[in-house]
Amino acid sequence: MQHRYEIVDRLEQTQKIDKESLAELLTTEDQELKEYLSKRARETAQRIYGNQVYIRGLIEFTNYCKNDCLYCGIRRSNSHADRYRLSREDIFQCCKEGYGLGFRTFVLQGGEDPYFTDERICEIVSGIKERYPDCAVTLSIGEKEKESYQAYFRAGADRYLLRHETANEEHYQKLHPKEMSLKRRKQCLMDLKEIGFQTGCGFMVGSPYQTIDTLYEDLQFILELQPQMVGIGPFIPQKDTPLKEMQAGTLDQTLRLLSIIRLLHPTALLPSTTALGTIHPRGRELGILAGANVVMPNLSPVAVREKYKLYDNKICTGDEAAECRFCMQRRMEGIGYQVVEARGDYKKK
Ligand code: 5AD
Ligand code: FES
Repeated sequence: MQHRYEIVDRLEQTQKIDKESLAELLTTEDQELKEYLSKRARETAQRIYGNQVYIRGLIEFTNYCKNDCLYCGIRRSNSHADRYRLSREDIFQCCKEGYGLGFRTFVLQGGEDPYFTDERICEIVSGIKERYPDCAVTLSIGEKEKESYQAYFRAGADRYLLRHETANEEHYQKLHPKEMSLKRRKQCLMDLKEIGFQTGCGFMVGSPYQTIDTLYEDLQFILELQPQMVGIGPFIPQKDTPLKEMQAGTLDQTLRLLSIIRLLHPTALLPSTTALGTIHPRGRELGILAGANVVMPNLSPVAVREKYKLYDNKICTGDEAAECRFCMQRRMEGIGYQVVEARGDYKKK
């Protein structure tokens, strides 16, 4: 191999990266090097997961949130957000529809909403597991006490997503209100892993004040935590937030980072996110081709979709679950991948 590809080969072989190599891979204008990075990552994903893409049915069940993250459209200070909660029955109905469409993982995502006590969450989780014992349930409901996480796990939850957002202390402070801390976030992630959840961390690409140094710390954190899932997508400003004037993250940087993460952590479950689909019409396809292996079509009732707006211009808000499901299948088939009806658990090696 020519010299300029060495940087990618080394990353693939050692599953490590130094800051200089990261800087090079994030900034190079050498098209062949960029393509080589993407190709190595894509082939790595294919070696482990074949041409299969896992689908997760995303149920956005509440947009009430007691947090006030500066980037997020459902932050508590956003008085323009039209708040809603789905009932237990609504959630079961989404699962029913999703099951019929071939989903075998349901992701319950919501703001940190005190109405949903541990007891209520456990009832919902065990209700889904009773009805669909062959399905995985993923929770994405924020920071909780370890005892709460334990209760969710006992109720049958399989996975938990909690993006760390940034692994750099100062950067974390710039994106969050002062009552939130990176330390607590990291503690939650360690608790989740220890309890036995398939755990996901992650961050926004191009978030305000992000630098190559903070990204380097993000990657080191991922290597340390060894999560089963890593969720990344571009930052997209939301018009009612303090960060509304900031630049969005780019397709190019997100794709490069997806590839780098795939090579650093070959077995990770790596979604090609809705945010990526929002900044580019073929963003999700390009994410898969850069090494991602999961997509998360929306299963929320159409009546509430418009209200779960973490960022502006979110796609799929007018589409029925079935439309998204088949749209996704077409999109994946269009690039030579197969959407599969499977839980899609983490593969150790
Ligand atoms: N742009 C992109 N992603 C966002 N998230 C929250 N707000 C935004 C935004 N404005 C992401 C966060 C959070 C996940 C559920 O959505 O990373 O963890
Ligand atoms: Fe929702 Fe295409 S995935 S309309």
